[in-house]
Parts: sequence; structure tokens; C-alpha cells
Amino acid sequence: MTNAATPARVRIFDTSLRDGEQSPGFTMSGAQKVLFAHALADLGVDVIEAGFPNSSPADFNAVQTIAREVRTTTIATLARCHPADIEACARSLQNAAAPRIHTFISTSPLHREHKLGMSKAQVIEHTIMGVELARRHVDDVEFSAEDALRTEREFLVEVFNAAVEAGARTLNVPDTVGYTTPAEIRALFEYLRANVRGGNDVVFSAHCHNDLGLAVANSLAAIEGGARQVECTINGIGERAGNAALEELVMAMKVRGAYYNVDTGIDTPKLLATSRLLSRITGIQVQRNKAIVGANAFAHESGIHQHGMLKNRDTYEIMHPQDVGWSDSQLVLGRHSGRAAVADRLRQLGYVLEDAQLDQVIAEAKALTQTQHVVSDRDLQRLVEGESFGPGWRIAALSLTDYGHRTRAHVDLSDPDGRHVIQSAEGDGPVAALFAALAQATGVDFELESYEVHSMGVGRDARGEANLSARIDDEVLAGQGTSRDVLEASAIAWLDIANRLLRDRKVLPRLAAVNG
Ligand code: KIV
Ligand code: ZN
Repeated sequence: MTNAATPARVRIFDTSLRDGEQSPGFTMSGAQKVLFAHALADLGVDVIEAGFPNSSPADFNAVQTIAREVRTTTIATLARCHPADIEACARSLQNAAAPRIHTFISTSPLHREHKLGMSKAQVIEHTIMGVELARRHVDDVEFSAEDALRTEREFLVEVFNAAVEAGARTLNVPDTVGYTTPAEIRALFEYLRANVRGGNDVVFSAHCHNDLGLAVANSLAAIEGGARQVECTINGIGERAGNAALEELVMAMKVRGAYYNVDTGIDTPKLLATSRLLSRITGIQVQRNKAIVGANAFAHESGIHQHGMLKNRDTYEIMHPQDVGWSDSQLVLGRHSGRAAVADRLRQLGYVLEDAQLDQVIAEAKALTQTQHVVSDRDLQRLVEGESFGPGWRIAALSLTDYGHRTRAHVDLSDPDGRHVIQSAEGDGPVAALFAALAQATGVDFELESYEVHSMGVGRDARGEANLSARIDDEVLAGQGTSRDVLEASAIAWLDIANRLLRDRKVLPRLAAVNG
């Protein structure tokens, strides 16, 4: 596909807030969805799929707020080919600047027989009804043939013909179960483009799941076959093994631009901050070796690699870390570091602070440099959140006594008024004992949904980072802690959640508006 023609634009359709958000562990509150929608718009995605409004009143309200506030991006919502779903989409999008209704029905023989109990003719009837009804509300209608990759090709063409005739502008071809291969999906897109009536006037779209680890490769192959929209998510979140990762797809198109001859509107230096914002919201970190946004993505450890890098970075780097937002990710704050640099880094991380808050964060960050050389993004986030929320419960000291099969944890905390509270509790391991002691001391208790510990950095500056998440009344709260000691990091993360709960449910710090 190498040619010198003007690059074709591939639209980036982000479904983190719909396909991603509906998967276990990634549920977000309405406020979190709105916050993340602003970040996606700032990143430059073309379409944000904001939710499935008929699935719950909470999702409806979140979509409605996103539609009202996010004005620079098309806002899409999902509906089955059911009148109630489509009407809910229309209502939720009433105030959107650029609304899109995305309606879908299953087309594969397996789904027709076992899920829908419908004949081919009935599937076509529902397609026409769904698309026509959606078109009565908005001009921009997308139609998806769920499980398209396991659908008979000829029938897929018939369904798409009906959708185009009914008024669909985008035809989405989902690999719902992550079953296809690059050669197969490329051939399917070529076939559909050649055979769907009016195919030149619509945008073909790929939506690939990652069950075989092929979602990004398959999406790129679909682009080679003529797809001009790809549906993807930040950090690759989504049903089961996830969707194609936006950051990987976009950087493949950018780094291999000469090969694919396509481009996107993504402001790639914002990729890392967007990925981290999602991790912060959900409490789920990406793996260290994750492409583009993992901690090791630009780390060179082996002597041979380091030697090559010192002579010429291109020996082992196919893109510059700055291209995806890594350049200042390790902010070295020394005694002479400037206020502007800290303010700028915080803005990139999604925080806009009042002057007094900024002064406080800078003072605390400088205090940190007494005990560590580098103040990381995580440290800054923790300082900002601590600062914005006030003191809350803090850890003064902790210790553990091991009795073989039981452990006793002793904690010395300072409460929000600065008074010391000392407590101890037993558990069948250090973490269980520690969390039990914290619960008894603070009077707050919750069930953890996830608990991860990572090590950050190497040598003298190595620190442990703990990430916890808890579900409380259908809302996920994420807590984070860093310390040289992983148990202390875990205690800080636990208190992070407890403090949010005590502050009458979280009010996130003031957030960066679109475009800063
Ligand atoms: O994977 C899928 O088929 C979907 C559709 C609803 C687009 O998410
Ligand atoms: Zn999907």
C-alpha cells in the first residue's frame, strides 16, 4: 500500500466510555466519564462513544452531560435496533453539537439463531427500522453488524445495502469475538467496498476485539483494506481481552506513515497523560511492557542497547518518547526548579490549580526532594489530590509482628484534626492485618476490588507504588500510594480511598478544561 498520494484521514472513534466502561473493573461514575470525555476531546479523537443511554439512568445522565459540555467532537451513543434504545439515544443527545446514533444488530448465523431467534429477513427488517428511526432524529447514523466476521459475506452485503438505503453514513464491521486474522479482515473490507451499493459514499469502520491478541494488527489490516474509521480504546480496555488500543494504532499509523499513507487528528504527545488519567480513574494500571504507555516502553537496560542508544538513539528507538508524552514524565525537581515547569506538567496531567494550591504543591514537591531525587508524575498527582482535598487521615508509623500463620499490624495515624490514633489488628497475612488495623482506626471499611503493587525506578530512588480500587454503591474509587516501603504505599493507597469516602464522596480536584 506504499504510495506518494496525500495521506487519507482515518477517523479515530474512541469507545473507552462504552465498550471499555462496560467491562469488569472499568466502571466509571458519571463525573469520571465526563472528565475522561474532556480528555479524549483534548487528545483529538474524532468520535467519542459516550455510552448506552438506555442501559441505566446513570449512563443516560452522563451522556447528556458529555453531549452538553464536549462541543469539539462528535458524540455517539449506542442503541440496539429497538425503538426504546434509539429514542433514549436521541433524548440524551438533544444538546450535542455533533450527535451520532450508533445502532446495531447481530448478523452471524450463531447470533441469529441462538441470540436473536431471527431469520435473515427479520434481521434486515430490524436494520431498516433501526436506521430509519435513528435518521429521523439525527443525520449522522452509524450501523454495526455485530459478529460481522462470522457472518456470510453475501448476507453482510445485503444487510449493509439495506442500512445504506435507510440512511446510514458509517458501516461498522465488528470482530465482536476477536476471531479474525489480518489477511482475512483486509480481504473482507476489500470485498465490502467493492460490493456494497453506495459503498463509495459511506465510511467503512473496523471494531476489533483482542481475544487472540490481534486487535491492533487486524485494525491496521482493515485500514489497508479501505477502512477509514477505527474503533478503539485507551489502554485497550473493553469486553473480555479488550478492544484495539488507541495509542498503539495511532502510533503505528504515525511511525509507519510512509507504509500506510494515512494520518489521524490525534495530538500524540497527549497519549501518555490520557492513558494515566484512565488508570487514575479506574485504579487499574497498564503492564510495564505495554507498548507506548508502559513504564518500560522507552527504558533501555541492557548494556548493548545502552551503548547503541548513546551513539545514536535510532539504533533501538523507532519513535521519540516525546512523541507520545514521555519527555517530561520524570520531572527532576531540584532546589532551583521553576514554578512554570511544575504548572505546565500538572496541566498536562489534567490539573489546573489556583495559585495558592500550586504554591503548596511546589513546596511539598521540593520537600520530597530531600528524600528522593526525582519527583514523578505519580508523586505530583498524589500531592495535588492531597492538597485539594485537605489533610484527611495520614500514616505516621506502622509496624508488623509475624506469628508464623498470623500477622499483627500496628498503625499510628494522624486523624483529620492532627490527633494521633493508635490501633492494631490481626490478619492471615501482612496486608490483611494492615487493612484491618486501618479500618478499625478510621472507622471506615470497604471491600477491595483490586490491589496491585509495582516498583518504580531503580537503585537508590526505587519506590513501591500501590494501586487499590473499591466498589462502593456501584461507584469505583481508586486509591494510590507511593513509598520506599510497599506496605506503607499500600496503607497510603487505602487511606486515599478512606479519605475520599469520608469527604462525602469524591469531588475530584478542579480539572483541566478542554485545550488547557
Ligand atoms: O463488539 C461489538 O460487536 C460491539 C458492537 C456493539 C459494535 O461492541
Ligand atoms: Zn465491541
